[in-house]
Amino acid sequence: MRFGHFDDAAREYVITTPRTPYPWINYLGTEEFFGIISHTGGGYCFYRDARLRRLTRYRYNNVPADVGGRYYYVRDGADFWTPGWKPVKRELDSYQCRVGLSYTKIAGRRKGVLAEVLYFVPLGTNAEVHRVTLRNTSRSPKDLKLFSFVEFCLWDANDDQNNYQRNLSIGEVEKDGSTIYHKTEYRERRNHYAVYSVNAKVAGFDTDRESFLGPDNGFGEPQVVAEGRSRNSLASGWSPIGSHQLAVRLKPGEEKTFVFVLGYVENPVEEKFERPGVVNKKPARELLARFQTTEQVDAALAALRDYWTQMLSKYQVKSGEKRLDRMVNIWNPYQCMVTFNMSRSASYFETGIGRGMGFRDSNQDLLGFVHLVPSRARERILDIAATQKEDGSAYHQYQPLTKRGNNDIGSGFNDDPLWLISGTAAYVKETGDLAILKEQVSFDNQARNTATLFEHLKRSFDHVLKNLGPHGLPLIGRADWNDCLNLNCFSDTPGESFQTTGNRVGRTAESVFIAGLFVQVAPDYADLAGKMGFSDEAKRARHEQQKMEETVLQHGWDGGWFVRAYDFFGKKVGSKECRDGQILIESQGYCVMAGIGVETGQARKALDAVRDRLETKHGIVLNQPAYQEYHLELGEISSYPPGYKENAGIFCHNNPWVMIAETVVGRGERAFELWKKIAPSYREAISEVHRLEPYVYAQMIAGKDAVRHGEAKNSWLTGTAAWNFVAISQYILGVKPELDGLRVSPCIPAELKQLAIVRRCREAEYRIRVKNVGHLAAGRSARLTVDGKPVDGQLVRWAPAGSVVKVDCEV
Ligand code: BGC
Ligand code: NOJ
Repeated sequence: MRFGHFDDAAREYVITTPRTPYPWINYLGTEEFFGIISHTGGGYCFYRDARLRRLTRYRYNNVPADVGGRYYYVRDGADFWTPGWKPVKRELDSYQCRVGLSYTKIAGRRKGVLAEVLYFVPLGTNAEVHRVTLRNTSRSPKDLKLFSFVEFCLWDANDDQNNYQRNLSIGEVEKDGSTIYHKTEYRERRNHYAVYSVNAKVAGFDTDRESFLGPDNGFGEPQVVAEGRSRNSLASGWSPIGSHQLAVRLKPGEEKTFVFVLGYVENPVEEKFERPGVVNKKPARELLARFQTTEQVDAALAALRDYWTQMLSKYQVKSGEKRLDRMVNIWNPYQCMVTFNMSRSASYFETGIGRGMGFRDSNQDLLGFVHLVPSRARERILDIAATQKEDGSAYHQYQPLTKRGNNDIGSGFNDDPLWLISGTAAYVKETGDLAILKEQVSFDNQARNTATLFEHLKRSFDHVLKNLGPHGLPLIGRADWNDCLNLNCFSDTPGESFQTTGNRVGRTAESVFIAGLFVQVAPDYADLAGKMGFSDEAKRARHEQQKMEETVLQHGWDGGWFVRAYDFFGKKVGSKECRDGQILIESQGYCVMAGIGVETGQARKALDAVRDRLETKHGIVLNQPAYQEYHLELGEISSYPPGYKENAGIFCHNNPWVMIAETVVGRGERAFELWKKIAPSYREAISEVHRLEPYVYAQMIAGKDAVRHGEAKNSWLTGTAAWNFVAISQYILGVKPELDGLRVSPCIPAELKQLAIVRRCREAEYRIRVKNVGHLAAGRSARLTVDGKPVDGQLVRWAPAGSVVKVDCEV
C-alpha cells in the first residue's frame, strides 16, 4: 500500500494523505541553517548545532507524535483549519505534501479555500522562508484571517527541557511593525537573536504562548484563532512564541501570497544594541529585505533547484527501471547530503541533543558524499583527522561547534582509525588532490603537535598492527563497527552505558571484522603511499595486508563462514560452536569485499551461508540465531529483543557490504536482488509494513524474529545512505573512481539490458553506454571502447579537464 507517489520530473515525493503510518519528514537547508519538517508542518529549525542554537521548540516522544512546528491557521468565518491537517485536524477536501530537495510544499483545501505553504532555506541564508498562498476557489468573496505560529526554544535545547525554575523567567521579545524578535539571554551573554516576520501589515500579533493558546488548549485549538482575535501579547518570561494575524480579503478566484521569514541573526559584540535594551536590528532588516517580494522568493527557490541539478549531474543513470533511476539520480545522493550535514544529530529518531559527529560515521558518510561537493569533503577530512590522537587512536565522536574530541564517549573503538583511510582514499580518488596528504594536521587539536595527513593515515594503519591479540587478529577494544558487540564491557548495572563502560579492558578480545576492514583499506593505503613516493611503506602495507589475510583464513574461518570475533575468554563469537549468534553478517561482507578467500573458495561459501542463514524477504539480518538471553560477555548486542537493532535486525548499513561482496565474486543477480530488498523505492509498495519514508533508507528493518518483521526504524541519519550509494553506483552499475582513472565494470542482472550513465569527475564528463549482451552478471568480463578505441581491462584513464569521453561497455 502506498501513501503517495514519486514525481521524478519534479524530483519530488508526493504524499497524498496526512495519515501516513509515521511522520514522514524532510530537511531544509544545505549549509549552516537547517530545519526538519514533517508532512504536516511539524518539526523545528536551528543554526549549525541542533542542541546549542535551536530556534524553535520541539517535543520528542510526544503524544500524539509530531505536534509542534511552524503552523499557519486559516480562519474562514467561524471555521478554522490548517493546510497540513495537523494540528487542527479539521477534515480537508484535498491534501498534498510535496517533499522536494531541501524544500517541502504542503497544500490543503477546505470549503472553497486553498492554502499552500512552501518551506525552504534559501542558499547563503540563515533563515527559513515560508511562502504562504491563499486562494479563493469558491464563487463568493472570502474574508479570511491568517494566523502564523512558531514557538521559540530558549536556544540550548537540552537546558530548555530541564531547567524550568530558571527558564520560565527569562523569555524576552521585541515587536517592531510586522517583525517579532526573540531575544532571550541576549541582554547578557548571547549576541544572537531570532526574527520572525511577514511582508505585510499585521492586524494583530502575539508573542506569549498562553495568551495565544489559552491556558488549557493545545496547538489544535488556539484561543486566539478560535475567537479570531489576537491579544497583542508581549511575552515576559514563560514561553515566548511568534504569531502574526493577517486580514485577507479574496474575491472569487483571487489569490494572495505572503512571505514569512524565520531567521537567525548575529551581531558583533560591540554592536549588540541600537539603544540601551533594544537589539540592533540592522542585520535582521538586511535579511528581511532580501525576501520582501514573491519574485525574490521564487528566484531563491530557482537557485536552490539549480544547485541540486548541478550537484546531481555528477552521476546520472538511465536504465529503463524507474525505481532504480530515482534512487541513484535523486534520493540516495540527497540522503547522503543530509547525513553529511547532520551526522547523527537531528532527525525524528535522534533528538539533536545527544550525539556529536562520529569519527567512524563521518568518514563513512564521505563515501557517498565526496562526489557532490569535494571541497566540503576535504574540509571534513581535515577536521576529523585533527581529532585523532598521537598513537593513532580516535575519539569516537567530536563536537561540531568546537570540532574537538568528545571526552564523554572517549576512545577505544578500534575500527575507528581505519575509516580515516577509507574516507581520505575516497576523496583523493574523486579529486586527484594528493596535496591533501601533505597538509599539516594536529593531533588531538593541539596546534603545536602536528603531522601530515599522510602521517595520520600511517598512525591509523599502525594502530591496528600495534594492537593485535593472541591469534594475530586486531583487538576489538570497546567495540568495532558494531557498537553493541561489547566484549570487554561486562555490564550488569542498570543504566550503565555500553558505549563507555569497559569493566575489564583486556588484550584478548579480537575482531575478524577489523581484520577484514584492514585488508580492505590496505591497498588504498599502499597506493596513496606509492603516490607520495614512499615505495617501502607501500611494500610494507601490502606485506601486512597479505599477513592479515592469512591470519583471517587460519583463525577467522569457521568451516562454512567467517568467525565474527573472539571474546575476552578466547571463545569464538559467530561460530557453529555457539548456541545463538552462530553467524554474523559483518565479517562475511567485509572479508569478501576485501577479497579474502575469493581465490580459495571461502568467499562464495561465506556468501552462500549468508543467503541460507541470514537472508529474509526484507533484507539480510545481522545474526542468527538471534540472542535469546543477555550475555554478560557480549554486551548490548544481546540486550535487544530478538529481531531488533543489532540483535538480528536487518541493518541496512551492512547489507550493501554483502551486495558489494557478491559483485566481487561476480554474482550480479544476487547483488541486485539484495539491493532491491532494502531500496526505499522498491519498498514503497509495502509502505504499510515498512511505515517510514519511501524515499530514504532507514537504519534498521525489524528482522524475522521480531513480531513486526519488515517494519523500519531510524530513518535518514545512517551510514546506510553512503554505503548503498557506493554499492549500487560503484559496484553494481560499476562506475568507480580510482587513483588513475574511472573503473567501468558493471555487475548487473539480466533484467537490466542497457544503461546510459553520465559521470562528471575531475572536470571532465564520461558518457558511458552499457550493453548487457552476455548477461554474465560479472564485472570483470566487461569489454570497453573509449572514444571508439578498444582498451585492455576496465580502466578509463582520467581525461583532461573539459573533455567529454565516450565509453562503450559490453558485459
Ligand atoms: C545502538 C547503536 C548505536 C549506539 C551508539 C546503541 O544503542 O544500538 O546502533 O550506534 O547505541 O549510540
Ligand atoms: C550506529 C552507529 O552510528 C554506527 O557507527 C554503528 O556502526 C552502527 N550503529 C552499528 O552498531
